[in-house]
Amino acid sequence: MDDRVVTGELQNEDASVELSLRPTILKQYIGQQKVKENLSIFIQAAKMREEPLDHVLLYGPPGLGKTTLAGIIANEMGVQFRSTSGPAIERAGDLAAILSSLEPGDVLFIDEIHRLPRSVEEVLYPAMEDFFLDIVIGTGPSARSVRIDLPPFTLVGATTRAGLLSAPLRDRFGVLSRLEFYETKDLCSIVERTAEIFQTSLSKEAAVEVARRSRGTPRIANRLLKRIRDISQVKGEEEISFPTTKLALEMLQVDDEGLDHIDHKLLRGIMESFQGGPVGLDTIAATIGEESQTIEDVYEPYLLQIGFIQRTPRGRVVTTKAYQHFGVKENDQ
Ligand code: ADE
Repeated sequence: MDDRVVTGELQNEDASVELSLRPTILKQYIGQQKVKENLSIFIQAAKMREEPLDHVLLYGPPGLGKTTLAGIIANEMGVQFRSTSGPAIERAGDLAAILSSLEPGDVLFIDEIHRLPRSVEEVLYPAMEDFFLDIVIGTGPSARSVRIDLPPFTLVGATTRAGLLSAPLRDRFGVLSRLEFYETKDLCSIVERTAEIFQTSLSKEAAVEVARRSRGTPRIANRLLKRIRDISQVKGEEEISFPTTKLALEMLQVDDEGLDHIDHKLLRGIMESFQGGPVGLDTIAATIGEESQTIEDVYEPYLLQIGFIQRTPRGRVVTTKAYQHFGVKENDQ
């Protein structure tokens, strides 16, 4: 098996820490109540029927736990977890190699599934629907198609935007689960759980503050906690305190709403260069020097959620709420 296509190995120390923070069973997974309830029933039913779980599509902004959930699904089903990503599978042959090496019932996780090449996607349809591959061997008049039977498996796909998936691919998933930004109380429990794994104590107010300023995203909460722990440790604290947490977040350029310097650049860019909008995504991306795709997938979803920007047919508009946050008068430009 090509290492580039299916990764089993950790990339670096941060990845290994992140992996150890991941819950392994549904019961340990905090938040996303509805998604958990549904998955729990579908997993139970599949196990009772001794069948693989139907294919699952997990979608939502980055950092909310799609990969973690995929791992949990495999673990709860008692099968192997194999992981790859859309851009890593360049040719139909790459996919054929992965699929034919699966054991019956295995979970194959494809991250960023919307980036799967179209030619690979077409090979995936019969594999998902009827567990076989149709591979064309050779070219020209001597080309022939061979059918390869596959073990039944569960495909778990993850994407930041389900809208980017082609309709035929989307239709082949039996379970569609949308992950939402986490509530502060759930993020607080996640931060407390992480601190416990780190064998670090932190005050309740500190945990709430990290949770509140993590943009509804566990990955951000855990990353901030790691940096705050560094600062607290250097200060010689026994327990991570609220004042140190505030100071650390300031040092990390995370504002009171959890917005970072790129959020600021984006919002200020629209306010200062475009009178608050409307402005097209590509125009604002070029103005502030960030990729349109990154703005759309990573930054915009949370700013939309907290009502700092709106999408209109003519482009993005900064809201009154955002102006108030910056202490700028709307008509002052
Ligand atoms: N760590 C990161 N995300 C988590 C979650 N949803 N539940 C528990 N621990 C987590």
